[in-house]
Amino acid sequence: MKHLLSTADLSKDDAILLLDTAAQMAATQSREIKKLPTLRGRTVVNLFFEDSTRTRISFETAAKRLSADVINFSAKGSSVSKGESLKDTALTLHAMGADAVVVRHWASGAPYQLAHAGWLDAAVLNAGDGTHQHPTQALLDAFTIRRHLVGRRGGGDPDGVGADLAGLRVAIVGDVLHSRVARSNVALLRTLGAEVTLVSPPTLLPVGVESWPCRTSYDLDATLADWRPDAVMMLRVQRERMSGGSGGAFFPSPLEYTRYYGLDARRLALLDDHAIVMHPGPMNRGLEISAEAADSDRAVIVEQVANGVAVRMAALYLLLAGDPSAEGNDL
Ligand code: CP
Repeated sequence: MKHLLSTADLSKDDAILLLDTAAQMAATQSREIKKLPTLRGRTVVNLFFEDSTRTRISFETAAKRLSADVINFSAKGSSVSKGESLKDTALTLHAMGADAVVVRHWASGAPYQLAHAGWLDAAVLNAGDGTHQHPTQALLDAFTIRRHLVGRRGGGDPDGVGADLAGLRVAIVGDVLHSRVARSNVALLRTLGAEVTLVSPPTLLPVGVESWPCRTSYDLDATLADWRPDAVMMLRVQRERMSGGSGGAFFPSPLEYTRYYGLDARRLALLDDHAIVMHPGPMNRGLEISAEAADSDRAVIVEQVANGVAVRMAALYLLLAGDPSAEGNDL
């Protein structure tokens, strides 16, 4: 693996290696000294053309915990605002000796261009591109699902190391149309053997969704009561991506959306005892998820953020240092 661009590129073995390496990384994070010397002397550039809290901070934390030098680049306040192109930005990073570039961009496909245009000699990690992909989010989601629903529930290894997600059911609920998280999760969860149902109003499902490897439903209550998911992943309503022609308005209206697709205490009570509630963040509390649901015992939302550091450490480690089972690569 030279780059991490899309979960669709990952084989089942690749995905399990990433999750198992993340489990090793998570174990190092409970030590008194969290820092590993593995990437000493390597340079990781965080190149963010869109806002981020969790992804940017956790990639920075992950790189620093592996002893890499980190350069944070935000398009705001850089020469991008003077019109500098992606190519010239990439050539500048190349001149500075970047070994890995973590890129978030509003344009779907920008990380592919960085990886394959020949402007850089660095590993490219997609930190979210347009409505296309957010692979490390899906990996941290799968890591969290495996830990809760395979590891802790199965009574074996607490992280479920070595296991896939066969037999588990995941409902992904909300604004699928604009969601790179949904696209990344559908591909990865299917690769790992889980069943997926997308629950969304018809207006927020993408054209061509029939060909995705999952079920679709317009009815959240029926999906929770009859399909009985093991995990319910709520998606953020991305009003900032709805401005084209609609001025950020969407159909159904916010009130209707909450009524038919919001996760609240009544819907929480429909879930099986073991079922978990997820959200990639940032949340619109009161729109797609109530405060009661977000702060409930079933919610693993804060744990998802913590797992993001271990998963991003694993991704950087595997791309820059190789297989952890190889001789000389002990954690
Ligand atoms: N989940 C996620 O990508 O969050 P940020 O936009 O804060 O990085």
